[in-house]
Amino acid sequence: MKVTVFGTGYVGLVQGAVLADIGHQVLCVDVDESKVAALQAGRIPIHEPGLDTLVIHNQRLGRLQFTTNAADGVAHSELIFLAVGTPPDEDGSADLQYVLAVAKTIAQHMNGPRIVINKSTVPVGTADTVAAVMAQGLAERGVQHRFDVVSNPEFLKEGAAVADCQRPDRIIIGTDNPASEAKLRELYAPFNRNHDKIVVMDVKSAELTKYAANAMLATKISFMNEIANLAERLGADVEAVRRGIGSDPRIGYHFIYPGAGYGGSCFPKDVKALIHTAKQVDFEPLLLNAVEERNQAQRNVLFERISAFYQGKLRGKTVAVWGLAFKPNTDDMREAPSRNLMEALWAAGATVQAYDPVAMQEAQRIYGERPDLKLVESPLAAVQGAECLAIVTEWQIFRAPDFELLAQTLSDRVIFDGRNLFDPALPASHGLGYVSIGRPAIEPR
Ligand code: UDX
Repeated sequence: MKVTVFGTGYVGLVQGAVLADIGHQVLCVDVDESKVAALQAGRIPIHEPGLDTLVIHNQRLGRLQFTTNAADGVAHSELIFLAVGTPPDEDGSADLQYVLAVAKTIAQHMNGPRIVINKSTVPVGTADTVAAVMAQGLAERGVQHRFDVVSNPEFLKEGAAVADCQRPDRIIIGTDNPASEAKLRELYAPFNRNHDKIVVMDVKSAELTKYAANAMLATKISFMNEIANLAERLGADVEAVRRGIGSDPRIGYHFIYPGAGYGGSCFPKDVKALIHTAKQVDFEPLLLNAVEERNQAQRNVLFERISAFYQGKLRGKTVAVWGLAFKPNTDDMREAPSRNLMEALWAAGATVQAYDPVAMQEAQRIYGERPDLKLVESPLAAVQGAECLAIVTEWQIFRAPDFELLAQTLSDRVIFDGRNLFDPALPASHGLGYVSIGRPAIEPR
């Protein structure tokens, strides 16, 4: 089948490459000329395991192409994916300008029936808005063509995007139109062989499903962070509590890891957007408000621990930071807790020596040259000359450090661990202080 994808970000690029890989003819359209030129030359703008080989392989086979020409994109196929960004507005609502701009473009160029499939995370009711924009565009041209707007949300995780997209847990198709449903079933048939993963529903429910899934996961994390704060004050160990509750299959082990707060391009944005949507229909979302509030507070917890250890006197201190990306296997620093930590440390007069396996360039892009940020080339280089170490991202490379060497190198002999990577007995056995999340703190010896 022929498929067009508007937007070559995480969702669009991965979706396009995965659809090409099963044999569809995919044309990806983006307004960013330098990005499209890079993709045409086989350079992938994001770090995502397996994505570069998938893109290059399918490009060579002629099944995956990139263009900035929107008219070509609209002409290419009856099936058009919308996978452009929906960044948060100042008030937390999702900014739909890119989605609606593509809707307008499609109406300007379409010369036959089209099925517009929305993959971007958009507020409930957006499919109707997209349809209205398209109807207006067609009316302005004085032409009539059949079209349908379908909601087909994406559930991929960064760092595992290709694998998630190739093996989805479920494929949500939001449409009341049996013809559109049949087309999408055909498109997704190769992903749907062993058991039926397709769930068909009305458009609005599909749009809400995406927000509900992310809000549920964010709720689990904020809940656990709340328990961690309690555990700490009560002298309990949240890791024991986590294992204790996770063993109940109704609760499960997933997404109950306490930490420095959730970040990334989805949870913070989507929880805020759902709160905004609720308020628009005069509903006060008490639980979602609390999830968001706990997360805001949680992102400061690591800094608060460091500040308390130094009794607020951080001026002139050098803090090693391990991990900048919002989670492992990505270079994405959007809403990353590392940013809250570093910015608070700088405001308090400290210097940061940071290392991340892949997000160094991204940090450089965000912060540029500044005297209080040194981006160094290894975990060890980060701790050289530092008073203490803060761990923000749970990259594999940080999981088994040489504690003896850390004890000799860090002048204040203390680790602040925002991801609970170690059994506290380990650093302690080398005389290191160890302050983690929701567990009793250990003083340096
Ligand atoms: C998320 C959803 O998982 C995915 O289904 C959706 O399509 C997009 O949003 P992503 O943002 O890529 O994916 O990352 P995810 O692995 O879900 O982690 C999100 C954040 O939650 C990270 O900051 C992570 O560190 C944090 N987290 C996750 C915790 O703090 N504790 C946990 O137990 C799990």
